[in-house]
Amino acid sequence: MSDAKNANMKGLILSGGKGTRMRPITHTAAKQLLPVANKPILFYGVEALVDAGIREIGIIISPETGNDVKECVGDGSRWDIKITYILQEHPMGLAHAVKTARDFLGHSPFVMYLGDNLIKDGVGPLVERFSKGNADAFILLKEVANPSAFGVALLEKDGSINCLEEKPAQPKSNLALVGVYLFNEKIHQAIDEIKPSRRGELEITDAIQRLIATKHRVDSHILRSWWLDTGKKDDMLEANRVVLDEMTDMEMLGNVDENSRVSGRVHIGKGSKLVNCIVRGPAVIGENCTLENSYVGPFTSIGDGARVTQAELEHCILREKCQILDFNGRIADSLIGVGVELTRSNGKPQAFRLMLGDDSKVEVV
Ligand code: DAU
Repeated sequence: MSDAKNANMKGLILSGGKGTRMRPITHTAAKQLLPVANKPILFYGVEALVDAGIREIGIIISPETGNDVKECVGDGSRWDIKITYILQEHPMGLAHAVKTARDFLGHSPFVMYLGDNLIKDGVGPLVERFSKGNADAFILLKEVANPSAFGVALLEKDGSINCLEEKPAQPKSNLALVGVYLFNEKIHQAIDEIKPSRRGELEITDAIQRLIATKHRVDSHILRSWWLDTGKKDDMLEANRVVLDEMTDMEMLGNVDENSRVSGRVHIGKGSKLVNCIVRGPAVIGENCTLENSYVGPFTSIGDGARVTQAELEHCILREKCQILDFNGRIADSLIGVGVELTRSNGKPQAFRLMLGDDSKVEVV
C-alpha cells in the first residue's frame, strides 16, 4: 500500500447508471456487481483505490440497484476504509455524478473510477504523481480500435491535450479516455459551467475540456497495459480471460476424486466436489459446487453453489447456483446468469454460445 500521504485524496466510484447494454443479465443485477474471476467488478476498483492509500471512498448508486451494491460491498470494514453511498436519482452523466457527490468530496482532490472499468496496473503511481505535481486534472488514455465508442483525446506533438470529445462520430484520434480520472476541486466549477450534451448528459469529457479552455492544467498518460470497459457480454468474457490469465497460483480447498484431472492454475473453493472431471486452467470454481463427468476448459469461472453434470464448458462465466444438468454438449463463450437451469433431452453432441439472464430455464430438445 502507498504511504499515508495519499490519505487526503478521496475516491469516487460510479456504480449508478442503467446497464442497458448488459441486458438481460442486468435486468436483475447491477452490471458493476457482475463477477470477473468470481469477484464483482466493482471490487477491483475499490481495491485499486485502497492499494493507492485512499481511505475514504464514495460510491454513486442508483435507486434501482443501489441496495444490491450496498449489500455486496458493505461499509468498507473488510478493507479497513470508510465507504459512503451517494444516491444519484437519475443517470444524468458522469459529471452529474460528481455534482451529486459534492458534499462528500468537499475541497479534497479525488480519483474518479468508473465502476465497470478494470485496469491492470493499479492507480498508486498516478495518485502519487498527481499529488506531487500541479495539474488540476489527470486523465488516462489508451489506444483503441473503436474510438467512437469512447471519449476521445487529440494530443499536440508535445503530448499536451488539444481537445476532448465524447463518442465522436468522426474521431480525431484513436486515444480513448480510460475510466479513471484524477481531479482537484477546480473540476466543480468546470462542471457548473457546462451544459448537457446531445445525449442529454452532463459529460465529464466536456468538463475536462472546459478546464483546458479556461487555462487549467490537464495532464495525461497513455496506458500501455490492458484496460477493459466491461460494457457488453464479450467485454465481460475478455475481462474474465485476462484476469484469469494473470492468476499465478493454485488453490484446492474442495474435494477432487481420483478419477478427475486438474491441470494448470485452478482455484477450487471449499465445499466443492468434483467427480470424474477434467479441469484445465486457468479457471476458478467457487464454493459448494458439484461437478460430475464434465470438462472445464481454460478461462472459465463458475460461481458458488453451481451444479454441472455431463457438460463441457470453455471461456464461460457461470454465475452462482447455475444448474447445467446432463447436458451432453459444449458451452463456449457464454455468460450465464444466477440460478439458470439448463437441461437437454437429446443426446446428440452440440456446441452453444449463450447469454442467459438470472433464473432463466432452458431445455434443449
Ligand atoms: O469506459 C470509459 C468511458 O466511460 C469513457 O471513454 C467515456 O468518455 C465516458 O463517458 C464513459 O463512457 P460510457 O458510455 O462507458 O459510460 P457509462 O454510461 O457506461 O458509465 C460508466 C460508469 O458510470 C458505469 O459504471 C455507470 C456509471 N454511471 C453512469 C452514468 C451516465 C453513473 O454512476 N451515473 C451516471 O449518470
